[in-house]
Amino acid sequence: MLRIVVLVSGGGTNLQAILDALASGKITNAQIAAVISNNPNAYALKRAQMAGIEQVCISPKTFAAREDFNRALLEKIQSFAPDLIVLAGCMVVLPKELIAAYPNRIINIHPALIPAFCGTGYYGLRVHEKVLERGVKLTGATVHFVDEGTDTGPIILQKAIEVRPDDTPETLQRRVMENCEWIILPEAVNLIANGRVHVIDGKVVTDGGDK
Ligand code: GAR
Repeated sequence: MLRIVVLVSGGGTNLQAILDALASGKITNAQIAAVISNNPNAYALKRAQMAGIEQVCISPKTFAAREDFNRALLEKIQSFAPDLIVLAGCMVVLPKELIAAYPNRIINIHPALIPAFCGTGYYGLRVHEKVLERGVKLTGATVHFVDEGTDTGPIILQKAIEVRPDDTPETLQRRVMENCEWIILPEAVNLIANGRVHVIDGKVVTDGGDK
């Protein structure tokens, strides 16, 4: 049984997609050990509470130095002994020590088709503003492993949708979430939980089943 710790910062709709997929059996061989937020007001914490899952807030604002926050976050995560860490709308820059401690065991959902519209400064609604500014016709979401770069780790799954002429950043964000993020994040968790994701020469190879 894969033990998962989910890191969140906001609304937690991606966390909800994982919770729903666990409840419906779309994800098997996995359980969420805890949900950790840097933001005490994150609705994601409420979602975890309603699902009966342990929730923890570790806010950088309550530590004198960033290193102290980094250490506390790492220690808290380690206390749950996770096999997989899922960044589901986590807006914290992850400490290097954390990334080093969990190679190819941290995954992130990004609201664009990496390597487009990613990297420093590309998060949340801003990604969709940039997509519309550039006038691209396709966008989507990516689930990838986290390495020491920003959005540079091996890509696990991607899903695309068409950008509509009348899209606003808000409508585009919503459609990317509904049609891409909430589908591929649970799917990636399920593939990993069932031992079907391998990183070979820096790239993901998925085996078995229908993938
Ligand atoms: C999602 O759209 C996710 O892709 C994005 O934040 C949102 C969180 O929503 N993440 C990033 O931009 C990371 N670079 P949620 O809290 O409702 O899951």
